[in-house]
Amino acid sequence: MAGLVPGMTGQGMSRPRKVHVKSFGCQMNVYDSHRMADTLAPSGYSETAQAGEADLIILNTCNIREKAVDKVYSEIGRMRELKDAAAAQGRQVLIAVAGCVAQAEGKEIIRRTDVVDLVVGSQNYHRLPAMIARLQAGAQLVDTEFPIEDKFDVLAAPSRGAIAKRGISSFVTVQEGCDKFCTFCVVPYTRGAEVSRPIEKIAAEVERLAGAGVREVTLIGQNVNAYHGAGADGHLGSLAQLLRHLAQVPGIVRLRYTTSHPLDMSDDLIAAHGELPALMPSVHLPVQSGSDRVLAAMNRRHTRKHYLDTIARLRAVRSDIAFSSDFIVGFPGETEDDFRDTLTLVDEVDFAGAYSFSYSPRPGTPAAEMEAQVPAAESAERLQRLQALIIRQWRAFNASFVGRTVEVLLEKPGRLPGQLVGKTPYLQTVQVMAGPKLIGSVLPVSVTGTGTNTLFGELTEPAQAPALVTAGA
Ligand code: SAH
Ligand code: SF4
Ligand code: F3S
Repeated sequence: MAGLVPGMTGQGMSRPRKVHVKSFGCQMNVYDSHRMADTLAPSGYSETAQAGEADLIILNTCNIREKAVDKVYSEIGRMRELKDAAAAQGRQVLIAVAGCVAQAEGKEIIRRTDVVDLVVGSQNYHRLPAMIARLQAGAQLVDTEFPIEDKFDVLAAPSRGAIAKRGISSFVTVQEGCDKFCTFCVVPYTRGAEVSRPIEKIAAEVERLAGAGVREVTLIGQNVNAYHGAGADGHLGSLAQLLRHLAQVPGIVRLRYTTSHPLDMSDDLIAAHGELPALMPSVHLPVQSGSDRVLAAMNRRHTRKHYLDTIARLRAVRSDIAFSSDFIVGFPGETEDDFRDTLTLVDEVDFAGAYSFSYSPRPGTPAAEMEAQVPAAESAERLQRLQALIIRQWRAFNASFVGRTVEVLLEKPGRLPGQLVGKTPYLQTVQVMAGPKLIGSVLPVSVTGTGTNTLFGELTEPAQAPALVTAGA
């Protein structure tokens, strides 16, 4: 029976194999997922978007809140069905759990479920090909040693094909890990100490991306503005220096970076916002709370005043910067007064958008042990009030564009024929009628209206609109 199945696998398999990588959590996981696929390509694995046709399924997981972890376990349940269905046809499907849950829970994952063949921590992806070979021989493996060597140096460079799939806008990891130890957060434990990639390596990757048609690069790191990578002269360079360097790469017209910590918003980085036209006027700067008491208990190491001053300093060099942020409500000990301080901070800054979460206790973090945990109902009620305010600000921000002309980077075809979808400098999605040749161009668009999650616009002078930069130029 099994012999009749085309693609029957086993030792010494000959058909090309497929890997499906599903990402949860932050942009770094998205980036790592691409790198995992790249690392497996020399072993004969091509990427598929269909879990059902994969021989290897990698769940790249997030541990930031309890809900994120629940999602992983329910996804593992779904994978069991695929694995069983394939086994019934004589086809072996391997399931790997990677990322921050893998790093935090290790062996526990295999103890909790027998479907998982491999648990691989966030620092060990370069060893995937060797591990997969052992799995095919029937082993079950856990590799969460941490940290072993510089993952940046040992991971495969993305192939041209892999880069080509990334389109117009791409993430590039420049820094990983965090030394801040906010009392609520798992990241310092799941991603380890801060490490920065050398400037030359980042520049080489960005040049390759630009050569493959990428026009916008977002530099990512858990604490990206703490970046301190080695330069060609051996001296450590700051994020501002890195941005200045990358702004000169031909073809790269937009630069962004995320996520920043308020303490690392240096004078130099603020100055770069005034100097570099390619550096987009959109800054994501998580504050978490507007109450100094709560900020201290969170070990954020900045005050409300410091945060507001930082925003003012940025606005002083470039008045059109729009800010977004992250908030946690219901942190242990947060009172109604503390929460009101958060609301007034939001009022003062006037954000273009923000993520907000109810505090979720994470095992092993100091805040999980704190007394005065806020009841879930209270936390949920505060979250609703905060979100209502943030949504009002976000809508007003979007509405303020109607009637204005804004530069849009055209990224891909829209849903309607003849339509393209692009992004404003503020990451708003814009739908505009334009031909596919304009993908990769930055063009002035007059905004005619807003939808729920999108702006509608028209090219200002469709006939003569010059392509400021054209993909492949
Ligand atoms: N490095 C970034 C973001 C880290 S995680 C920073 O310094 O802010 C992204 C967001 O998840 C955080 O900004 C925080 O708002 C939220 N978060 C982290 N741990 C959390 C927890 N235990 N409960 C609820 N939200 C949390
Ligand atoms: Fe977590 Fe704080 Fe580090 Fe951000 S700065 S990753 S919230 S510990
Ligand atoms: Fe989640 Fe890990 Fe990113 S915990 S937010 S995937 S660093």
